[in-house]
Amino acid sequence: MSFDLVLFGGTGDLAWRKLMPALFQAFRHGTLPAGGRIIGVARDDLSDAQYRQLMAERAERVEVAKRPNAEEFTQFGAMLHYLRMDLSQPADYERLAALLREREADCVVMYLATAPGLFTSVAEHIGAVGLNGPKTRMVLEKPLGHDLQSNRAINATLAGVLSEDQIFRIDHYLGKPSVQNLFALRFGNTLFEPLWRRDTISNIQITIAEDLGVETRGAFYDQTGALRDMVQNHALQLLCAIGMEPPINSSAGAIRDEKLKVLQSLKPWTPESLAQHVVRGRYASGTALGQPVPGYLQEKGVAATSTTETFVALRTEISNWRWAGVPFYIRTGKRLAGRDAHIAINFRPVPHPIFKTPLGAANRLVINLQPRDGLELHLLAQSAAQDQAEPTLAPVHLNLDFDQRFGAERVGAYERLLLDVIAGRLNLFVRSDEQEEAWRWVEPILQHWRNDPAGPRSYAAGGRGPSAASAMIARDGHCWSEEM
Ligand code: BG6
Repeated sequence: MSFDLVLFGGTGDLAWRKLMPALFQAFRHGTLPAGGRIIGVARDDLSDAQYRQLMAERAERVEVAKRPNAEEFTQFGAMLHYLRMDLSQPADYERLAALLREREADCVVMYLATAPGLFTSVAEHIGAVGLNGPKTRMVLEKPLGHDLQSNRAINATLAGVLSEDQIFRIDHYLGKPSVQNLFALRFGNTLFEPLWRRDTISNIQITIAEDLGVETRGAFYDQTGALRDMVQNHALQLLCAIGMEPPINSSAGAIRDEKLKVLQSLKPWTPESLAQHVVRGRYASGTALGQPVPGYLQEKGVAATSTTETFVALRTEISNWRWAGVPFYIRTGKRLAGRDAHIAINFRPVPHPIFKTPLGAANRLVINLQPRDGLELHLLAQSAAQDQAEPTLAPVHLNLDFDQRFGAERVGAYERLLLDVIAGRLNLFVRSDEQEEAWRWVEPILQHWRNDPAGPRSYAAGGRGPSAASAMIARDGHCWSEEM
């Protein structure tokens, strides 16, 4: 199958950090359809040869294992082309159309790795030159809007140009092997399904912790914050994968219908729950990765008067028969103690203890997303210490490391998602109604914060976030899973 992939923002950070390495890995793995063209688009005046040279230089900065050697780059580089465009100029889209019509590829991917503010105008220009035919697929990075209204406006413009099944809204968390594995765990096994409900599960905790700060993205991040950057999309998608009903089949429609129902069932916010069940934080200076690091307000591009949060912890519920009353906790933040993403499923304690040892809840299933991909099942077992009068139980855990089992060189998130776009598979992309529902749910939090003079709570860089996040969960008689 032939494809043309037009990479708007072709010289930008996302292009060389994530997309080119992912395309190259697919090429190396032999899964990128042969004979495709990858057409970088940007304002710079570059020839094809200069663009290849630039991408080869940038490839030196990616992880060693993902760097092409000279021979590989010669072959891969032959797929790279370049088109200088001013994205506000209709004539430049005509030039793009001419380039694409030179050959009729089976699929034309328009990847918008540009500033989000350009999405709608680029889409309209593409429509105006007739590049929105059935072979076209458009990929949009998040954020799609900054609130419900702006998200709806973007989706409405896109719907005027393309049909929903031509629109691929990327949430790269859905491309992570560990997240797909979560679907396999739930819907490929019978073991957990009978336990996957309020009768047996006490609470669920989703943690996405990063040790990095805002890096070079201070100005962007300051307009965004952790709620929009991580919760509205990645964390809620994980919550959907955990909370959804088994879909009737593995089609994109069936999966997305079930995720939508979860989002629609999220407990609506009240003034009380907003005050008690949402904590926002902002990192102060501290130590990260062994180095002293500045606080958020000292980061380049961040306004001195900023009230943007770099940490969020919250508690919600899915109001349906399966989950009523089970707290779902989410916490995410930058400059925390380590890079760690996991989901902890805490089971209820036994209904009638026969062992005298005070045990509390014994069972926990931990789904590790990062830095390693795996599963841990925590149990109690008879300990080695023998006391005939009183059996002694000790915590033990089964540990399944998928990186070790299947090899750490598994298909990465962007590689997987790019191949899905080329193949037209929508399963791992977000539908407009899901996205709108997620915005609808975060919107009251944004409003609450706008009217809350207290601002974010401070936490030391390299720590575990504001103590209010621990106090929030402690009020329910729980504590955060210790990993992180
Ligand atoms: C992105 C956010 O979507 O996800 C970043 O914009 C964040 O702020 C990143 O760092 C985290 O992704 P990952 O795959 O490194 O956990």
